[in-house]
Amino acid sequence: MASDLTRIALLGATGSIGRQALEIVDAHADLEIVALTSGSQPLDELAARHRVRHVQVGGDPTEILDRSEPDLVLNAVVGFAGVGATLWALERGVTLALANKESLVAAGDLALAAWRRGGGLLLPVDSEHSAVFQCLEGRAPEAIDSLVLTASGGPFRNHSLAALESVSVEEALAHPTWSMGPKVTIDSATLANKGLELIEAHYLFELPYEMIDVVVHPTSVVHGLVRFRDGAALAHVGYPDMRVPISYALTYPERRATSVPALDLTAPLSLEFEPPDSERFPLLPLARQAGERGGTYPCAFNAANEVAVAAFLDGRIGFLEIAPLVEDALEHADGGAVNDLFELVEADLDARRLAEGRLAPAA
Ligand SMILES: NC(=O)c1ccc[n+]([C@@H]2O[C@H](COP(=O)([O-])OP(=O)(O)OC[C@H]3O[C@@H](n4cnc5c(N)ncnc54)[C@H](OP(=O)(O)O)[C@@H]3O)[C@@H](O)[C@H]2O)c1
Repeated sequence: MASDLTRIALLGATGSIGRQALEIVDAHADLEIVALTSGSQPLDELAARHRVRHVQVGGDPTEILDRSEPDLVLNAVVGFAGVGATLWALERGVTLALANKESLVAAGDLALAAWRRGGGLLLPVDSEHSAVFQCLEGRAPEAIDSLVLTASGGPFRNHSLAALESVSVEEALAHPTWSMGPKVTIDSATLANKGLELIEAHYLFELPYEMIDVVVHPTSVVHGLVRFRDGAALAHVGYPDMRVPISYALTYPERRATSVPALDLTAPLSLEFEPPDSERFPLLPLARQAGERGGTYPCAFNAANEVAVAAFLDGRIGFLEIAPLVEDALEHADGGAVNDLFELVEADLDARRLAEGRLAPAA
């Protein structure tokens, strides 16, 4: 007899998404964690609390996936380190709840091919993509006019270029609407995050870049929209709280209750939108270019951005030095097609080495 339990491998359990996912799992008796991973933090306490046998700190997460045989992989690892797990799940047709956008950006073509072979479900956890996924459900592709991803604009939405010169790490980490891990928070401040999400959306929904728009929406109440050919637009609206898209992915196709309150329409609700500013936030147009050019460019964008964000967080470079490092890596990327994981890892390493080489030695 088939089990009613969904056996979940939670990769990146110690992170912001990982911790919120554990909260969702705790609320549902039919969700079971069978594997937990982290990058370096110990997992003994979490494993004991959730009675999880398969635990892995660091290393290749596909090993624990082979051992634990989950029904669903929640990939909440940060960065390129999540690529192997994304490809593992897609290849085998195991349901993938994907928070790790970097894997779809860097390995988009490989991931699409693996998804087609595996034939499983790919459920976005990123709030904008979960929103668009829900607006698109049951619609024919030819009915779509375009997708719109919303961006809060981050903490520096109203900063001049001159003011951006001297922003501190602490200021960049103070996101106005979302509470997230440090890498994605810095990416939100530079708008690289929206660039990564643009490429992620291209692969997830298999739509050309010209059909995907980005708008700044400071209150983050509208998470995403789909415009249809008849002139209608469907929007996904709610308070910015990642437990909603995490819960949706873990309990799909149901829509289970969460502790997130229903939208209160008696309180003031701001629905303002504005175009993103390419001059102050050049990583967004750079990501679009990288995505449109394809091949190794998205991988190089991601790799150099990871190096630059880590250097900013370590105080080695200023905020405005992040984008030039990425631009430089894109100028030097060969842009060729990626045929396998080996070539992808090489492209990632090349861009990392180049970006690292441009950094001043650590003090
Ligand atoms: N946080 C959000 O609200 C949010 C929203 C949308 C999308 N996302 C995406 O979700 C992903 C996770 O974000 P987050 O904010 O949860 O990040 P986070 O708080 O920094 O957590 C990252 C997790 O990944 C693990 N990890 C780091 N390096 C690793 C490695 N080399 N190998 C294996 N595991 C590693 C960390 O383990 P340690 O604790 O041991 O370092 C931690 O468990 C990112 O791709 C992000 O863009 C996040």
